[in-house]
Amino acid sequence: MNAERAALPIAVFDSGIGGLTVLHELLVSLPQEDYVYLGDSAGFPYGTKSPEWLRPRIERLVTYLLGRGAKLMVVACNSATSAAAEPLVEIAAAHGVGLLTVVGPESEIAAAISDSGRIGVLATPTTVASGAYRRALEAHVGRRELEVTEVAAHDLAPIIQNGFPFDEGVMRTVRSYCERLKSAEIDTLILGCTHYPLVAPMLQRMLGRDVRLVTAGHALAAAGQRFLEAEGIAAGGSAEGDYRFLCTGDVESFRELGTRFLQMPLGDVEHVELDGPPAATL
Ligand code: DGL
Repeated sequence: MNAERAALPIAVFDSGIGGLTVLHELLVSLPQEDYVYLGDSAGFPYGTKSPEWLRPRIERLVTYLLGRGAKLMVVACNSATSAAAEPLVEIAAAHGVGLLTVVGPESEIAAAISDSGRIGVLATPTTVASGAYRRALEAHVGRRELEVTEVAAHDLAPIIQNGFPFDEGVMRTVRSYCERLKSAEIDTLILGCTHYPLVAPMLQRMLGRDVRLVTAGHALAAAGQRFLEAEGIAAGGSAEGDYRFLCTGDVESFRELGTRFLQMPLGDVEHVELDGPPAATL
């Protein structure tokens, strides 16, 4: 039974291609595993949509993905995690798979490494409005109070997605979001959107070397490894596993953009047809 489960892939879900920054960490930390990644590129961006719009859509897509067979569900999207936290837990439980999401591990690391307790969160409006990071950080208030400064960036994920190579306009946008973080004198910044690691060098320059940037990928990969070992379902052997991609939008643009995000070839991308709320365009 365990051998059968061990042979199943790890499922990864995101609103589009931002989750590839998380997949990259998983590929590095758990190279023997197989992965199946579903990006809801027709629904992107999630970060400016309401939970009422997002929840049923995420439920259908994650149910579909797990229906194909998986041993672990990784939700590599902060906006999806924030909008559909409870349904995600229920769907994973119904399929008998473990669930890892982005908000918890980042909050745990940020609370542990901040010296001053002044933590910044840069995230999409959906994620900030949900209060998910504030709640998760409060759960780690221990040795001292935490002062959390949240900045909602309504346009940053789409700008990053469309912005290769980055120009002065991208710099100006990132700089405008740094102003409040600087005046709050944070010493730790949670990159609360899986697109943001792409602008980490800019953020580091604008905020200064002393501000620590916390991204989701590393923490999630470590949590994934612990889960697979505890369950006895890690892939055996030393051969590199496989990865496969599915998306709800145009497969060619997903492949092209995704290759730039992952910096590895994506191979064939399979289209997934979704009935339901009309897909928004960028
Ligand atoms: N992956 C999404 C997130 O982490 C990107 C933003 C979006 O879809 O708007 O929030």
